[in-house]
Amino acid sequence: MQHATLTLDGQTIELPIVEGTEDETGIDVTALRKETGTITLDPGYGNTGSCESHITYIDGENGVLRHRGYPIEDLAQRASFVEVCYLLIYGELPTSTELDEFKHRLTYHSLLHEDMKKFFEGYPATAHPMGVLSAMVSSLSAYYPHAEDDEAVDLNIIRLLAKLKTIAAFSYKRSIGQAYIYPKNSNSYTADFLHMMFAVPSEDYDVPQEVEEALEMLLILHADHEQNCSASTVRMVGSSGANLFASISAGINALSGPLHGGANQEVIRMLEAIQEDGGDAQKYIDKAKDKEDPFRLMGFGHRVYKNFDPRARIIKSTADRVLENLGVDDPLLDIAKTLEEAALEEDYFAERRLYPNVDFYSGILYRAMGIPTDMYTVMFAMGRLPGWIAQWKEMRSDPATRIYRPRQVYQGATERSYQPIEER
Ligand code: CMC
Repeated sequence: MQHATLTLDGQTIELPIVEGTEDETGIDVTALRKETGTITLDPGYGNTGSCESHITYIDGENGVLRHRGYPIEDLAQRASFVEVCYLLIYGELPTSTELDEFKHRLTYHSLLHEDMKKFFEGYPATAHPMGVLSAMVSSLSAYYPHAEDDEAVDLNIIRLLAKLKTIAAFSYKRSIGQAYIYPKNSNSYTADFLHMMFAVPSEDYDVPQEVEEALEMLLILHADHEQNCSASTVRMVGSSGANLFASISAGINALSGPLHGGANQEVIRMLEAIQEDGGDAQKYIDKAKDKEDPFRLMGFGHRVYKNFDPRARIIKSTADRVLENLGVDDPLLDIAKTLEEAALEEDYFAERRLYPNVDFYSGILYRAMGIPTDMYTVMFAMGRLPGWIAQWKEMRSDPATRIYRPRQVYQGATERSYQPIEER
């Protein structure tokens, strides 16, 4: 086995190197503090591996993303979202019998307990659906108690996958004051979500095939992304032994931030602002470059991808076709393309290796499907759910898992005595 040698204050220690199946290497520093009294310091964990994983491989330099070995381009073109869920969670693509059984279970468990409908009414109609989503997922633990054995855990996994789309669609219906539409067993997973979003009780509604296909692709593109902020949150919360619903609810909250999944709605707000401002993309590029201005080009940059984000490439290459199929002519797509071209010509973005990420074009497709802006991050959460579940399940079954508990280098006041208030 390879070792790294570290010399500190004259003491030399050997640290084992862990090798991954794609030749990635990591220095195992578990013995560092015990042997030297020191820790590693890595704010934002840019160089810290928190686990060994078998789920998703990313090569950020070359824009490679694979789930369980399958390239994202292949999955996005040829698989269904439900197949990708199965692949991520159980490790292999399903046989047709396994897929039928899985689909049946997802259909069978898609209803919400009727009492849960009262919760939606408790929130103001203006509530952001991400807040409602995380609260409702957390509430599921009140209905489906903590499971210990693998079979009971698996049932909770199915319940969560099956019910998330119902929760998402109900929160939308509540926000616009329409009657809830219940799940329909003959629909596919994706079609069922669209049906619950857009059908009304008084009329028949057929899910447009183009919309269903576009949504399948978008959900697949979001399905997992190894140890990102929300997946790490799910693992961290779960590492304390917290149940599946509590862990995923925490992941949803992590996703809601504008630097993570919340970026997709911010991209559209930014493009709309540029449009209202007369379409001057350069003005916003200059703002993003200005260090005195907190504005960032939303949908640009990524911690891992440094040349291109393969998911953004797939969305961009299909955007024109999808919009044409849907019969939508959206000026925001042209603004986005102009902005991208102009930004890529700037040294600022080239030097920092900032390129469009998955969120840059996804909002334009959601918009074309008629999904309201506030729901975009909920769509991301629906897509990411199988990834979170797979990460949680792997964390739970890995014998190397310990409760997540990073250290710190303390920089605060040194010891001092308490002063009574009259002496301060
Ligand atoms: N616009 C302008 N400058 C940027 C941007 C941007 N979008 N992103 C990074 N920079 C600059 C940043 O100011 C810094 O410059 P300097 O070195 O001069 O201080 C440099 O590039 C490196 O940025 P960083 O913030 O240290 O990089 P990070 O890896 O910590 O952050 C990021 C990654 C995605 C949070 C960041 O690029 C960002 O804020 N992007 C906009 C939000 C966004 O689109 N988020 C979605 C990410 S993809 C989907 C997901 O994972 O949810």
